Amino acid sequence: MAAKRAAAFALGILLPLANSLTIEGMLGAPRRSTANVNPSGKLALFSSTSYNWDTKKSSTTWQVLDVASGKTKEAPFGSEVSEIVWIGDTDTSILYINGTNDNIAGGVTLYTADLGAKKFSPSLVASLEAPFQGLKAAQTKSGDINFVVNALARWDDGSAYNSELATSPATSGRVYDSNYIRHWDVYIASERYAIFSGPGTSESKLYC
Ligand SMILES: *[C@@H]1O[C@H](CO)[C@@H](O)[C@H](O)[C@H]1NC(C)=O
Repeated sequence: MAAKRAAAFALGILLPLANSLTIEGMLGAPRRSTANVNPSGKLALFSSTSYNWDTKKSSTTWQVLDVASGKTKEAPFGSEVSEIVWIGDTDTSILYINGTNDNIAGGVTLYTADLGAKKFSPSLVASLEAPFQGLKAAQTKSGDINFVVNALARWDDGSAYNSELATSPATSGRVYDSNYIRHWDVYIASERYAIFSGPGTSESKLYC
């Protein structure tokens, strides 16, 4: 009897949950990135991406986690920010990739900001000419911030490749000097990933 009652009780708890699990619900549930802890260990940043079935679009918010209390609050920026590192003059300083660039189509921008400041006021560090990613940064003793990022590089001069600015040849023919020209149904392009580094000044030039 007791076992039956316990089973009924368990079902009562589990059923509403089971009913609410739909495929759409699961696929639309927020996907969170790993949290990235700041130098003092007090705050962490993570992103949360959800898919909206009505608009058929996904959107990303960034959340600031107070490590001690577990409370989160939404960061003052959203989907346009693709990567963030904690670095700068204070424990709450960040350097991030803004995936948009008003001046260069297909490019990105680097900004710094202080999340501890009363008002969020980002400042532009660099305007980059290609869709760079994989941001890593270090601060030198003199306070400069040096960073590395990666992007596809052009085969002929090694400069960063921006598909939106590349001129497409008048012919679809390709010249290969090796046997390996195709991987499954994708023809191997000549661009390869390369690492670029730059100083955290307003200069946009990156060194390969
Ligand atoms: C991202 O860059 C756009 C310009 O391309 C700017 O308007 C926007 O404020 C930037 N957002 C952040 C969070 O830096």
